[in-house]
Amino acid sequence: MCGIVGIVGKQPVAGRLVDALRRLEYRGYDSAGVATIHEGRMDRRRAEGKLFNLEKKLDAEPLPGNVGIAHTRWATHGIPNEANAHPHFVDGVAVVHNGIIENFSELKDELQREGAEFQSQTDTEVVAHLLAQYTRQGLDHRAAMLAMLNRISGAYALVVMFEDEPGTMLAARSGPPLAIGHGRGEMFLGSDAIALSPFTNEITYLVDGDCAILTHDAAEIIDFDGKPVKRRSQISQAAAFMVDKGNHRHFMEKEIYEQPEIISHALSHYIDFAAHTVKANDTAIDFAKLSGLAISACGTAYLSGLVGKYWFERYARLPVEIDVASEFRYRELPLSPSQAALFISQSGETADTLASLRYCKDNGLKIGAVVNVSESTIARESDAIFPILAGPEIGVASTKAFTCQLAVLAALAIGAGRARGTLMADDEKAMVKHLAEMPRIMSRVLNEVQPQIEALSRELSRFKDVLYLGRGTSYPLALEGALKLKEISYIHAEGYAAGELKHGPIALIDENMPVIVIAPHDRFFEKTVSNMQEVAARGGRIIFITDEKGAAASKLPTMATIALPNVDEIIAPMIFSLPIQLLAYHTAVFMGTDVDQPRNLAKSVTVE
Ligand code: AGP
Repeated sequence: MCGIVGIVGKQPVAGRLVDALRRLEYRGYDSAGVATIHEGRMDRRRAEGKLFNLEKKLDAEPLPGNVGIAHTRWATHGIPNEANAHPHFVDGVAVVHNGIIENFSELKDELQREGAEFQSQTDTEVVAHLLAQYTRQGLDHRAAMLAMLNRISGAYALVVMFEDEPGTMLAARSGPPLAIGHGRGEMFLGSDAIALSPFTNEITYLVDGDCAILTHDAAEIIDFDGKPVKRRSQISQAAAFMVDKGNHRHFMEKEIYEQPEIISHALSHYIDFAAHTVKANDTAIDFAKLSGLAISACGTAYLSGLVGKYWFERYARLPVEIDVASEFRYRELPLSPSQAALFISQSGETADTLASLRYCKDNGLKIGAVVNVSESTIARESDAIFPILAGPEIGVASTKAFTCQLAVLAALAIGAGRARGTLMADDEKAMVKHLAEMPRIMSRVLNEVQPQIEALSRELSRFKDVLYLGRGTSYPLALEGALKLKEISYIHAEGYAAGELKHGPIALIDENMPVIVIAPHDRFFEKTVSNMQEVAARGGRIIFITDEKGAAASKLPTMATIALPNVDEIIAPMIFSLPIQLLAYHTAVFMGTDVDQPRNLAKSVTVE
């Protein structure tokens, strides 16, 4: 979603603001803009599309000035054109915003009745008009900001500057993340620590209801009533991560190939490789005593949770309630403090997941966060943090975060099984040994299947619809395969539990809709093969993702059979994720889409 940067600096800021926007590109956007104040005058450049369009404008007409704000916009209200791009200006006020002002329509009507003229279709512009109005009425900037904050409702991270007070920048948070960066004689604001990493590693995260007033050397934080609040700064690790593509064509490709190494690192946090045990869970959540677990997340993170449900129920005999966070938060699910809740999120900032977390917290549950960004809001509001240690994931399509989430959930489920006495020491040892072998098998699979999948992707890119089927933990993988393919190749794809085929989707089967069947040779194999028979009998084309045993056992004709090494059930979901990711990636490359920043998608969804 939108990215925000602000600098109260001692040196020219326009170039630095654009560099920071580049580090926020991964969040997804469709227009961008920069504004600075120079010699008492505010000016801006804005452009539709990618950052190079903005840079071209800045090259043609540079923006001097040591104070400025910048924004990448992911359109919500109004099309992605220059007029709707931020910063929005009204009478010496400049505003950038991430989120949605839910009562903008009433406010706009009211402001228009009073004579305000709107230049854009955005909800954000009401903020600039309100600030201008309160300033005209004689309020100082801080008072105008507080008055405005008490009028708007919704989700927002806001950064504001005033032409007649260039040494001060104001910001507020209610929902989407916003961080202050502390420099030497310069202060910064940004949507995340990665954006600010070249400037400073000393970060203060604002929390909901905070308003910040920045000058060159200080940041004061108050609540929306103007009362001072204290927030501790921390040293961020964001700068330690290299955010570049290396030798790869896309971040997504790099992130797929990083998985063996990263998973090995993540596992070492949870597993004692010498003793072949899961390390003791000394967090706030005691799995031994739980009556149940509620899991909630969005998109790919939800699908890793769905695999986790199978594991917690099977290995720890722990009942799991799971739902996508946008439904979970409103379901009014009866919960008891004897349950715990687990929230899974790569970014740790997803609005629906955060709202679900708060619902569970209000119901007295202990909260666990399976997150990639340990400094994120979800992590900070949780009782126990289970980091997935995947490093920054820049490609919008989640890959390495998914498999690292799975690895962490597997370790947690095994640990829970041991704690609850439902897994014997020998079972734990055997499963941990399989987990320890997993990175090596992942490397082998990535090298071996790549040429076959690349060739297959060329064929797949000619189809308009694709169906994915799987049973057991391969069912969430079928959903993930379909999600991955549609989000980056724009081919329509659906995932189904193989057993559901006869209950509807079989009506669609013909030679124009390939069916991708994910079926390791496990206890469900024969049943899934029966479903494949049903597809074949109707002239359907099958892409069979199985293992060596499965490939040998099935005699059905297929469009392609991808035979992976035979692996234990506990690691199959991670291993089988790899061909699914590669298939989506190469198909998208053939189709020439913007693989890392697919149309309409945002990496971090900070509004409902
Ligand atoms: C995955 O490929 C997606 N782009 C998306 O579904 C993502 O997993 C979802 O938005 C959740 O994000 P989070 O993990 O940061 O909470």
